[in-house]
Amino acid sequence: MRSAACSQRLRSNGSDDSFPCALCPGPSCLPYRLRRHRHTATLRLHFPAPARHFQSLNVDVGPQTTLEMNFFLETLKVLVLSIYYTFEPLFLWLLPSRRKNVAGEIVLITGAGSGIGRLMALEFARLGATLVLWDINQEGNKETRRLAKEHGAQRVHDYICDCSNRQDVYKVAAQVKKEVGDVTILVNNAGIVTGKKFIDSPDPLVEKTMQVNVMAHFWTCKAFLPAMMASNHGHVVSIASSAGLIGVNGLADYCASKFAAIGFAESIALEMLALGKNGVKTTIVCPYFINTGMFDGCASKWPQLLPILEPDYAAKKIIDAILKEQTYLIMPRSLYFVFGIRNILSVKLGLLLGDYLGAFHFMDRFRGRVKKD
Ligand SMILES: NC(=O)c1ccc[n+]([C@@H]2O[C@H](COP(=O)([O-])OP(=O)(O)OC[C@H]3O[C@@H](n4cnc5c(N)ncnc54)[C@H](O)[C@@H]3O)[C@@H](O)[C@H]2O)c1
Repeated sequence: MRSAACSQRLRSNGSDDSFPCALCPGPSCLPYRLRRHRHTATLRLHFPAPARHFQSLNVDVGPQTTLEMNFFLETLKVLVLSIYYTFEPLFLWLLPSRRKNVAGEIVLITGAGSGIGRLMALEFARLGATLVLWDINQEGNKETRRLAKEHGAQRVHDYICDCSNRQDVYKVAAQVKKEVGDVTILVNNAGIVTGKKFIDSPDPLVEKTMQVNVMAHFWTCKAFLPAMMASNHGHVVSIASSAGLIGVNGLADYCASKFAAIGFAESIALEMLALGKNGVKTTIVCPYFINTGMFDGCASKWPQLLPILEPDYAAKKIIDAILKEQTYLIMPRSLYFVFGIRNILSVKLGLLLGDYLGAFHFMDRFRGRVKKD
């Protein structure tokens, strides 16, 4: 017997028996196709199994049986896919990877006036993107603009923007939309570090760290995500840090800001998926120390295991991850292993490993960038 609910749906949708159920997606629906060829197999093979498909076959299935079927089939599906996804990176590694074309995309980089912000801008310039450069440092930003033109950029727009200030972000964002257009690749890169023990960190600097390193990401996303969502096309890149995956002695506010930046970016990525906006991509970048000056004085205990990254190398790896639409990039590679095993180690073993890697003394000789007078 057809269930009352299903018959009601069929009546209200005017469907007839040649199409099994008004709610089914149509001939692409797996149970429908199976039914056409092996009527009796449908119940066994349906995958996944919402109750509507059983209703559509005029078979009364009690709610308990349906639940059990759903549990069994969904569990089977997860097991099969788990095996596939475990080996997928290997298949992808063997196959030549596809890279997206960013020519003509409008790329906004915050903190573009120096360091990896500038180097990413030069890479995007070579790839034919339209550049929108934001920095609080006008001189550095103008220099990036000049270099980007030298590297072949056709359209480069530089703006002074204090990313720690919500009103300033919204004001400059409105100016960009009017003068350049909708940003399609947003790179949240601007960052600062206090570099002091937490107790010695002045409150305004702690607040500033949170404002630049994470809150700015909220405001830039508020400003630029809606257009990406409307066209289901875009990319949000978060330059976080390996210090956003593990606490570091002497970097309390910085770590807190980077943990928050990662949590925010991951949540935005999930929100896009849940809303069906799978054309809006996310890349979260977690590098170890990069030799840009930001962490001058910091040293690696075992450079052969944890090398300090060269800025050019880091920028190229980030651009590559963006072009491959990679969700996470952790550098150097050895850190994938460290973070992979971290959660299964006992606390004492974790501390032993941290001590071995020099994690308790990373910041001992921190100078940071020496400011010009
Ligand atoms: N250098 C490293 O070792 C390292 C390691 C991991 C992650 N990171 C992250 O990478 C990003 C870039 O770092 P970098 O090494 O190129 O540093 P950097 O100091 O060379 O560049 C940071 C840029 O951000 C700009 N900026 C600072 N405050 C701003 C504000 N309020 N508004 C707008 N712009 C502002 C600065 O003027 C500068 O141009 C940062 O987010 C940093 O936390 C750096």
